[in-house]
Amino acid sequence: MIEIAPSILSADFTRLGEQIEAAERGGATIVHVDVMDGHFVPNITVGLPVVRSLARATRLPLDTHLMISDPGLYAEQFAEAGARMVSVHVEGHPHIHRTLASIRKQGAKAGVVINPGTSLGALDEVLQFADYVLVMSVNPGFGGQEFIPTSVEKIRRLRRMIDERGLDVRIEVDGGIGRENIATVAAAGAEIFVAGTAVFGQGDPAASVRGLLSAAAQLV
Ligand code: DX5
Ligand code: ZN
Repeated sequence: MIEIAPSILSADFTRLGEQIEAAERGGATIVHVDVMDGHFVPNITVGLPVVRSLARATRLPLDTHLMISDPGLYAEQFAEAGARMVSVHVEGHPHIHRTLASIRKQGAKAGVVINPGTSLGALDEVLQFADYVLVMSVNPGFGGQEFIPTSVEKIRRLRRMIDERGLDVRIEVDGGIGRENIATVAAAGAEIFVAGTAVFGQGDPAASVRGLLSAAAQLV
């Protein structure tokens, strides 16, 4: 099932509730929250207090993408704060198996994130302990970057890897998603589409989400 997960990174932070409501009216079913610490990535965004407030402001599941060092120290807290999906990067995380288990223990879905420069081999031992894989199609840190075209083939190979192992793992994709590429990426096997600029950068978030959903349904 195709789902659109608007990234609030590109929203107007003075009226987040309204902007999320508008995206939901357009058919968004997940809210993507980019958590950056200025260390794992060269940018700083929001943390636990914002997740707690958003959990009260919307019924949509919150998907927290942790771009932070030592995610093992914080992942569980994000689930406790109300995130129903929590994802951690494979890069530089020696205890990812334990972190994924701690997220699930809180009743949230556990995700593994993989950067554009990281090979799918890095997922080998953790795939079976994840509910979803978030494939970065830009280098994390900023919204509004251009989609890296080799991500399509990477998603196709990941889909095959998941299917061959008979696992129930969904693929989410993040970075540079828009009406022009969403159908191709969906055909490769991604199901959850994070979109920041394409949802909040054009004025009307509801219409933008509708546009993405209809573009995703086109045959390629
Ligand atoms: C990038 C973030 C993305 C970002 C996507 O580090 O993980 O979620 O908000 O923004 P767009 O859709 O503008 O590429
Ligand atoms: Zn993200």
